[in-house]
Amino acid sequence: MDELENKIKQNSAEKISEYSEDNFLENYRKKTIEHWWSVYPAIIDSLNAKNKKILDVGCGNGGLTNAIAKLGAEKIIGVDISKKWVEFCKKEYSSMNNTDFYVADAGNLEMVKNESLDYALLNFVLLHIAEKEKIQKIFSEINRVLKKGGEFIMSEVHPSALMANSPIRETTNFLYKDGSRYKTKIRLIDGQWIEFSNVNWTLETLSELLQESELTIQKISEPRYINDAQEIFKNIKIPQYIIFHCKKLNQ
Ligand SMILES: C[S@@+](CC[C@H](N)C(=O)[O-])C[C@H]1O[C@@H](n2cnc3c(N)ncnc32)[C@H](O)[C@@H]1O
Repeated sequence: MDELENKIKQNSAEKISEYSEDNFLENYRKKTIEHWWSVYPAIIDSLNAKNKKILDVGCGNGGLTNAIAKLGAEKIIGVDISKKWVEFCKKEYSSMNNTDFYVADAGNLEMVKNESLDYALLNFVLLHIAEKEKIQKIFSEINRVLKKGGEFIMSEVHPSALMANSPIRETTNFLYKDGSRYKTKIRLIDGQWIEFSNVNWTLETLSELLQESELTIQKISEPRYINDAQEIFKNIKIPQYIIFHCKKLNQ
């Protein structure tokens, strides 16, 4: 076993970031994440949200959910396993009459009817999931709730961003292996940093699991920083995020 594998083994008991822990939640809530300069605009651009029914699985603080609601979605449902986040979203976006928020595990979306949605989103959630069987359950639920021809958009951290440190990201113990744990620290808009403990899933495994769930990959995109981003972000040449654009086919 090489030195890195050994470290990873020691770290396998490492805790994955727990959003319902008060400290992490409070800290995360205050921070201005740079997703608004890269991955979120790309997700929003790929949606035709007006009058559509949309599900945001693992919606967290609901920032993206709310931005999509404002685009005129008929309904956008945010679900999250963290009761505290869902309480926060219900309060924060109470003025929006096209959003609903529920506490739920992504592997059991029983509040959503079969084949009732135009889009489902899953952004930065699988990096919390430690078992492959759980990912299969999540994809199977997403397939169940999407209409035929409905679209599934999923984003994750790009593996290439985890392989090299840069002025906006520092990663430790990363191994390109299913289920392995690593820590990654990212720079925020205000120059502060936030650290996450995540789980890695290889692109090969994710694509196999999508295919098995009959969520057909139509396109993969690697969003870069938008022109409005600070120079330090725009100078980064390595893609930080990867977006899978999938479709539930008609048969
Ligand atoms: C990194 S945050 C991403 C939040 C949001 N999608 C975004 O883009 O900001 C991951 C979220 O997934 C939620 N989560 C983790 N495991 C989950 C599960 N099994 N079911 C539903 N939500 C889950 C966490 O509580 C957290 O809010």
